[in-house]
Amino acid sequence: MVSVRLVAIKARLAPSFSNGFLLGLQRNPRISIRCFSNMSPPSKAVVYEQQGPPDEVTRVIDLPPVEIRENDVCVKMLAAPINPSDINRIEGVYPVRPPVPAIGGYEGVGEVQSLGSAVRGLSPGDWVIPSPPSFGTWQTYIVKEESAWHKINKDIPVEYAATVTVNPLTALRMLEDFNKLNSGDAIVQNGSTSIVGQCIIQLARIRGIHSINLIRDRVGSEEVKERLKKLGADEVYTESQLDVKNVKSLLGGLPEPALGFNCVGGNSASLVLKFLRQGGTMVTYGGMSKKPVTASTSSFIFKDLALRGFWLQKWMTSERAKDCRPMIDYLLDQVHRGKLKYEMELVPFDDFHGALDKAIGKLGSHPKQVLSF
Ligand SMILES: NC(=O)c1ccc[n+]([C@@H]2O[C@H](COP(=O)([O-])OP(=O)(O)OC[C@H]3O[C@@H](n4cnc5c(N)ncnc54)[C@H](OP(=O)(O)O)[C@@H]3O)[C@@H](O)[C@H]2O)c1
Repeated sequence: MVSVRLVAIKARLAPSFSNGFLLGLQRNPRISIRCFSNMSPPSKAVVYEQQGPPDEVTRVIDLPPVEIRENDVCVKMLAAPINPSDINRIEGVYPVRPPVPAIGGYEGVGEVQSLGSAVRGLSPGDWVIPSPPSFGTWQTYIVKEESAWHKINKDIPVEYAATVTVNPLTALRMLEDFNKLNSGDAIVQNGSTSIVGQCIIQLARIRGIHSINLIRDRVGSEEVKERLKKLGADEVYTESQLDVKNVKSLLGGLPEPALGFNCVGGNSASLVLKFLRQGGTMVTYGGMSKKPVTASTSSFIFKDLALRGFWLQKWMTSERAKDCRPMIDYLLDQVHRGKLKYEMELVPFDDFHGALDKAIGKLGSHPKQVLSF
């Protein structure tokens, strides 16, 4: 209880703190204490009071009930992933991050538990996702206005509903928003085992677009290649396989790609560039190796390559959030029809720190960790 009080006190000083309880206190401390008629259940949350190494600064605490106002919806969270950007926010190295103290997480799915008196569009039992995604999904109950939630079909596994917004939507937008691709064209990417990478393979395949995929060297790389090929990858290479004079000799019958995607940086990004055709574009959207992107002088002079970037959080303004909802529904429909799948591991919320250790790479490569509440 001492820690809750500490967080609550600090939150009064941090107006944009996203937890409903603390916002309730800020709105009107007296009302939130008196109004017991429509209150959420108490919540359990992953909180950090300062930025730093996620395994050191996060802890799970209990938060008291919050008031559910007339336009509010109280959602019992079902699942929420640990994404690389969540880690970076806690580390304090992400450009936009909530002020501390903060609750972790940015996307997820929940079930409507109870409603304010003026809510008309949702019913208890509906599945909803925060739309646009927003800070603070690593907690068992969230109270937000009805307009902040997007109702989705319940015909897919909960872990897909929890993860659809950040990674699949990024894959979809990057395939659409840069060079115009036609059926028969090819793309090249690194980080192909990531969820974004797996989605790029499958969403490209749906459009008749071939993919050339780079993965890190690892024990069991043949199995990983087979798995990605089952998803629709045309070619999969480990980085060491590309240590050849002319990578294009490996293209076989595939066309030279006009578009490349980079979420790794360093040598892996240079390999993506080597595959691109004259006038091609490489879009950087992640920096998993924490190494810079370097491009040879000749790639600009003789190939006229373009280097671009994509950031979903900037792309998804609040005005755009409503336009995104049909895209989310499209992606969930692809999941429902078995055309979009990716590896995940559902982990009980009680084992948050075990999941976190896997997500930050302490225990080698692991599938996406998704907290199950
Ligand atoms: N810009 C945006 O708007 C946006 C949106 C979504 C995601 N992202 C970024 O996209 C990337 C992938 O996200 P995700 O959630 O799809 O990933 P994920 O499923 O959590 O998978 C992590 C990926 O990173 C690779 N990786 C981890 N450490 C690495 C290292 N030191 N060097 C090279 N590769 C490493 C892993 O490769 P192994 O299989 O070899 O371990 C795996 O492919 C992240 O950088 C994320 O921040 C950006």
